[in-house]
Amino acid sequence: MKAPIRVAITGAAGNIGYALLFRLAAGDCYGPDQPIILQLVEIPPAMKALDGVCMELADCAFPLLHGIETADNPADGFKGANQIFMVGARPRSKGMERADLIQANGPIFVAQGKAIESAAADDVRAVVVGNPCNTNALICAKNAPGVPEGRITAMTRLDQNRAVSQVATKAGALASDVERMVVWGNHSPTMFADYFHATVKGQAVTSAVDEGWLQNDFLPLVGKRGAAIIEARGASSAASAASAAIDHMSTWWHGTKEGQWTSMAVPSHGQYGAPEGVMFSFAVTVSGGEYQIVDGIEHSDFAKEKLAATGDELANEREVVKDLLG
Ligand code: NAD
Ligand code: LMR
Repeated sequence: MKAPIRVAITGAAGNIGYALLFRLAAGDCYGPDQPIILQLVEIPPAMKALDGVCMELADCAFPLLHGIETADNPADGFKGANQIFMVGARPRSKGMERADLIQANGPIFVAQGKAIESAAADDVRAVVVGNPCNTNALICAKNAPGVPEGRITAMTRLDQNRAVSQVATKAGALASDVERMVVWGNHSPTMFADYFHATVKGQAVTSAVDEGWLQNDFLPLVGKRGAAIIEARGASSAASAASAAIDHMSTWWHGTKEGQWTSMAVPSHGQYGAPEGVMFSFAVTVSGGEYQIVDGIEHSDFAKEKLAATGDELANEREVVKDLLG
């Protein structure tokens, strides 16, 4: 048995937290031979509810769960953390866009960035889920200048999973038949789910599926799926978001398979025309705990327009939070 790793989760008593913790403790992220110690972080009014979640975790008697610690602040909660899921933040409600959450949620990531820098383990890897996740991840990273660049990322894997599932259904295939489906840019309706480079059962998606549907139905469907779920459920996605967060961190931990790409929002150095210094979702491969942005992907003029629009939006969001950027 390996030595346990420390996994911190903020917003641990919330909806995503409740869907996430039990899967982490069951070994769904790091594998069946990797014990974990959970470090659960909440705000003071939610600590009682968190106690209840801890009781339930204990009652599962998970063999891989080697400890549960709780904290009502990130400086204590991130102590020695190797892996951090930054979920704790307000969700939007009907009629809001994710960007409308910037004022409420942005400041959370100032303190959490500082806490990562001062308290987390040297090998820390973090994913921001709380919305607007790209810009929150930027705030977090800018407030943790001593943490190596690229260790703080944002989640667009849920968008990728949504895109995979839609194409698989349309093509009469399984999700596992769809490859290289990558989402570019912001976790917002401007995101671009790049169906041009994706394949289904080894065939180009553009030849397996009607292109009119891809452009006119698929793109808005994926881009606005979060709002559709809020409309239907009366609450934002939780189990699917937790599952995607596990996918994001699991891929970062275990790596991508030969020829496989995945979507991660990471610091941009202007690749593919993205604005420099925003957290932009790119096609990446992962090996040895390090991601690499895929080089040399050719984009059509249509795709370039989409990339430019989502990049502009991220640059505008950065402008709105410029006072929080350390
Ligand atoms: P929720 O309201 O059910 O839970 C949020 C939890 O975070 C609450 O328990 C709250 O007490 C806690 N919290 C708030 N501020 C905190 C802080 N400073 N430190 C620690 N904990 C804090 O919300 P939810 O449904 O779990 O969603 C959480 C966030 O995830 C929202 O911002 C939502 O929009 C976002 N989200 C993102 C994606 C994505 O794909 N990136 C998908 C789904 C949801
Ligand atoms: C989602 O995509 O489901 C989340 O970001 C929640 C939301 O507000 O859309």
